[in-house]
Amino acid sequence: DTGRSTRGNREENLSFNPEQREWERTQMAAAQEQNIQGRNNNEEQYDFVFDDQISFIKEQVITGKKDDAVETLQVGDEPQVKAKSIAEVRKSLPIYPYREQLLEAVAEYQVIIIVGETGSGKTTQIPQYLHEAGYTKRGKVGCTQPRRVAAMSVAARVAEEMNCKLGNEVGYSIRFEDCTSDKTVLQYMTDGMLVREFLTTPDLSNYSVLIIDEAHERTLHTDILFGLVKDVARFRPDLKLLISSATLDADKFSAYFDDAPIFNIPGRRYEVSTHYTQAPEADYLDAAVVTVLQIHITEPLGDILVFLTGQEEVDTAAELLLQRTRGLGSKIKELIITRIYATLPTDLQAKIFEPTPPNARKVVLATNIAETSLTIDGIVYVIDPGFCKQKNYNPRTGMESLSIMPVSKASANQRKGRAGRVAPGKCFRLFTAWAYENELEDNTVPEIQRTNLGNVVLLLKSMGINDLIHFDFMDPPPAETLIKALEQLYALGALNDRGQLTKLGRRMAEFPLDPQLSKMIIASEKYKVTEEIMTICAMLSVNNTIFYRPKDKAIQADAARKTFSHPQGDHLTLLNVFNHWRESGYSTQWCFENFIQHRTMKRAQDVREQLEGLMERVEIQVESNPDDTDAIRKSIASGFFYHTAKLENSGTYRTTKHNQSVQIHPSSCLFQSAPKWVIYHELVETTKEFMRQVIEIQPQWLVEIAPHFYKEKDIDSENKKLPKARGKAQIN
Ligand code: CDP
Ligand code: MG
Repeated sequence: DTGRSTRGNREENLSFNPEQREWERTQMAAAQEQNIQGRNNNEEQYDFVFDDQISFIKEQVITGKKDDAVETLQVGDEPQVKAKSIAEVRKSLPIYPYREQLLEAVAEYQVIIIVGETGSGKTTQIPQYLHEAGYTKRGKVGCTQPRRVAAMSVAARVAEEMNCKLGNEVGYSIRFEDCTSDKTVLQYMTDGMLVREFLTTPDLSNYSVLIIDEAHERTLHTDILFGLVKDVARFRPDLKLLISSATLDADKFSAYFDDAPIFNIPGRRYEVSTHYTQAPEADYLDAAVVTVLQIHITEPLGDILVFLTGQEEVDTAAELLLQRTRGLGSKIKELIITRIYATLPTDLQAKIFEPTPPNARKVVLATNIAETSLTIDGIVYVIDPGFCKQKNYNPRTGMESLSIMPVSKASANQRKGRAGRVAPGKCFRLFTAWAYENELEDNTVPEIQRTNLGNVVLLLKSMGINDLIHFDFMDPPPAETLIKALEQLYALGALNDRGQLTKLGRRMAEFPLDPQLSKMIIASEKYKVTEEIMTICAMLSVNNTIFYRPKDKAIQADAARKTFSHPQGDHLTLLNVFNHWRESGYSTQWCFENFIQHRTMKRAQDVREQLEGLMERVEIQVESNPDDTDAIRKSIASGFFYHTAKLENSGTYRTTKHNQSVQIHPSSCLFQSAPKWVIYHELVETTKEFMRQVIEIQPQWLVEIAPHFYKEKDIDSENKKLPKARGKAQIN
């Protein structure tokens, strides 16, 4: 036994939009009637205890028995309680006593490494201190975040603290969304956005201070920024650089930045006890839900933070908790269920920060984002199943896939630390102590070492950084990965055979997209279907949350979805959805009736508008021809000819170039028809390698579109078989 459990992606995709919430409540009440049957009854595996009374209630939870007592559960519409004034809160943060010392250090040194635990006030306070000390007179204070949600939410918080409108003095910029103005002096942004700023202003002259925040996360863009800002700092002595991290291993950062001084902010921290399961969990999501209920029933008040791997899990857990607590009626105190993940709309995100009313308990179902980027006050209990979603890349095959992986020890300890900010806390690890010791890696591998570098290489080349092998990486990516990226960019036509940027490459770099998508857009000009390709690109950029499927309306939802299905594939289905929505006048009601996520569509519409703006800048002729699906698919193939697979037998495909066994994801509209040749948008690894977002293609297109990459022999088997079959029909 490995001591770990695994779990696939969930297909359920409930929406919690306010306008649909009431409707869903009714549905859930109905689902409740159907009696949620007992899952694994494994409470005795925990070393935290149950007494008799509790197991009675637990039984009710498991069998979902209905209790006709009053409804006590709310989904986050609790009253607001403002305990302390903003000024008081600011002064109470651990960083506050160090304000002067910190400002002195910034005055004295050009580069400083700042270390302080999550919640000490680094992100929200340091930019304000710098502003108050006059640094914004010379330029902006920029602060990068690895995650868009963090950039938005922190900017909103700081705007509130500074009593200004978000987008004025305090703003944020994330991909496809610029919430800044001429007035902006404190700018939060994703690390990727700052990398892109190097394209337009290589010396970053707009900034007087740059804070590379959450440096310990070591995202791809943060790692690239290290090299870029270190270089800029050399020829801009007036630029101040703060590298901020939540972990104590700052020595590495210091060494990299020429022995920059380390400024330590001592945290206030309470003891957190760790509780392991005695046996591995078969289903960590279920175990997490059960643990929430156990804590709620047996433990003193205090909020609970649960770490899950993605939106699907968060939504499913919310749904399960809702169902099971309903069954308990007034037997339990109020449990407020809140959720946080990257694509959650801003107004719903704000819910997690609202103080919990007296006598109630809040549970925050979160993705990794709550590990260090966001601090939620009042958390006393942490539930950690020990998994996160991670991108992995195989430079040999060039395949990138997203899979659910065990976290590192460092990560598990960060998560645990979330419980000890306001009082002594407890951390429930849903894995065994043995697994912790023997199976978890010490540290998470930096993203730069497990991702496709195509995007970043294209950006660096556009900045005139040609010698990538000698780029000042903190931890260099594997040489194989760099070479693969160069090869792919060459295959796409972005680089010439000497590795120099081509005109096409320069145009591609203008788009804040993966090179394949940029290429697809540029190619669509030739096929005269730019309108359609922009829509497809926008729809692909907004994730997999377009359709939703409430359990007890599954039949209606599936039927609605079917009406959009295009026989040639998912990209065209997405195009259908968008075009119908546009015809409805971008109607919310239309989305509701068709089981489409309205917010996701709005985002796609935003992205599309941005793309339209870029088309003008890159001087691409915008034309439309929705009926020419060959042209649309050829445009897609121009960017994604790497991602081809051929049907082998009974639903199993093999990727053309690397001979990997893959399958069409069951959510695809081509799942049943299983055409001979397909192009996929992405690979997702759950129980198997699945291709998600798939279109059917003609193999000859590959030779036509990418002759340097596909020769007749690659699609040969096809050509040989055809004449044979025609000539002597079924002789054997
Ligand atoms: O960056 P660091 O983790 O050191 O702390 P921070 O993000 O600056 O958070 C400091 C405090 O601000 C937290 O303890 C929260 O109470 C508060 N905060 C908030 O109320 N709402 C936010 N969106 C962000 C922070
Ligand atoms: Mg922070």
